[in-house]
Amino acid sequence: MRTPIVAGNWKMHTVLEEAVALARGLRGPLSALRGVECVLCPPFISIAAVAAEMAGTPIRVGAQNCYVADQGAYTGEVSPRMLAALCQYVIVGHSERRQHFGEDDSLVNKKVHAALRNGLVPIVCVGENLAQNEAGQTGEVVARQVRGALADVPADAALVIAYEPVWAIGTGRPATGADANRVAALVREVLADLYGRDRADAARIQYGGSVNAKNCAEFFGQPEIDGALVGGASLKADEFVAIAGAAARPVVS
Ligand code: 13P
Repeated sequence: MRTPIVAGNWKMHTVLEEAVALARGLRGPLSALRGVECVLCPPFISIAAVAAEMAGTPIRVGAQNCYVADQGAYTGEVSPRMLAALCQYVIVGHSERRQHFGEDDSLVNKKVHAALRNGLVPIVCVGENLAQNEAGQTGEVVARQVRGALADVPADAALVIAYEPVWAIGTGRPATGADANRVAALVREVLADLYGRDRADAARIQYGGSVNAKNCAEFFGQPEIDGALVGGASLKADEFVAIAGAAARPVVS
């Protein structure tokens, strides 16, 4: 049984003080949940403080991006080695990075390797844009992105895939549960082709794109979807706690 994983991508929101306040509001209620893994992904400059707030709890912390090298003369970049000293996860290949910062599958692949090399679990984002969706290319685009991101990545690598259709991000227009499930199933088939059925069945695949407390149950009820990558709704403590609570699966002891 896969443990669902609900991650909050705070994007470029919150100054340090606001990030700490949000983290404090989440700490108690998220710690009380069983049967779901929760991850907070604040901006780089707040990771250390948020991680300190989460110390001693089961809540995990992640970054929203990383560079491909562990250290060196790369002014302004943040390395996976630095992040690994503070947190456990890193979002890689988010569509906003592909769109605004020119990241392609090859760069995403280098970042996945860099994260894994440093013991970080990458949350690898894939998803088609509106034109690709309307042209019926969703499957082809997503499969290509998954294969590109995972090139030369070994079967035993710990990673999470997030299916985030670009047209659903920040639009208030989520995919339907059935459509998201279909794409998650396709991602799982690609993983099965790469790594075998057992590995594919163990992999966690999130849905992301306008997930909120009202619509999340539609996604969490789908057999191929193992949680969510939440943007806007992760900035409101009550809303994020409700989403994480809805994702929780009964714990078998
Ligand atoms: P929204 O939940 O704001 O649509 O953002 C989704 C997302 O991009 C999470 O990474």
